[in-house]
Amino acid sequence: MPDDVRSRFAPVAVNYTRSTFHASSERLQEVLDLARPKPGDLALDVATGTGNTAFALAPYVRRVIGLDVTREMLDQARRLTAERGIKNADWVLGDVAELPFADDTFDLYTVRAAPHHFTDIDAFLSEAFRVLKPDRDAAFIDCSPPAAAREVLHEVEVRRDPSHVRALTLEEWAEHFERAGFEIEVGALRELDWDYDEWMRNMAVDPALAGELAGVIEGAQGEALAQLHPERREGRLRHAYWHCLIRAHKNG
Ligand SMILES: C[S@@+](CC[C@H](N)C(=O)[O-])C[C@H]1O[C@@H](n2cnc3c(N)ncnc32)[C@H](O)[C@@H]1O
Repeated sequence: MPDDVRSRFAPVAVNYTRSTFHASSERLQEVLDLARPKPGDLALDVATGTGNTAFALAPYVRRVIGLDVTREMLDQARRLTAERGIKNADWVLGDVAELPFADDTFDLYTVRAAPHHFTDIDAFLSEAFRVLKPDRDAAFIDCSPPAAAREVLHEVEVRRDPSHVRALTLEEWAEHFERAGFEIEVGALRELDWDYDEWMRNMAVDPALAGELAGVIEGAQGEALAQLHPERREGRLRHAYWHCLIRAHKNG
């Protein structure tokens, strides 16, 4: 629910301007490689948060609009826009499932690290399809663990952040994209060595709860344990975390 999302992200907005996953150049290059922005593009980055993905696109497109449902996240994006002297980025308050834009408006659509918050994936994809011009592409990156690990991570995710709805597998994504009318051009999964403590800190999780949830990951069994392969390095928990990288085409 957007209200749930807002109440979770508003107090921690600044953390997302400096989180390693969200703001590092390596992770942002990954978005650029998938999205392939072009100089004349009008781009839309939804659930933009503090604007990391939109800022990565800005030097390579004509104009980028970042949309988010949490005002405080956009306040951070506006502050950074001014500090960095960026002239081709605009920020719009709105919901991914009800975009305030006309049909066939954008040359490029992106979303990263957010669809697991959306309650209606079909409505979100149908809006993405509607506002994208024909013969253009959209890039989607979201957490996407393999099935066994997802069961363990789901418990951790919803207790860490109750606005987490569900992470989809690549196969589940494919069904939604087909229903929306998109053709998948690239559908890949990649694994990261995840910094558990930073992940908890981003959402300002109470240390006692963070300790309990670390136990859930380290207590995984069988296939889930093999997939997550948690380990302590200098006392810090690291484990596997996955994202899907999907590039989808709207046929002309
Ligand atoms: C982890 S942050 C996004 C990170 C950002 N995309 C990036 O690449 O750095 C998740 C964002 O999704 C936004 N969000 C969640 N549900 C939304 C919805 N239905 N419509 C618009 N934004 C939404 C939240 O407000 C939050 O800012």
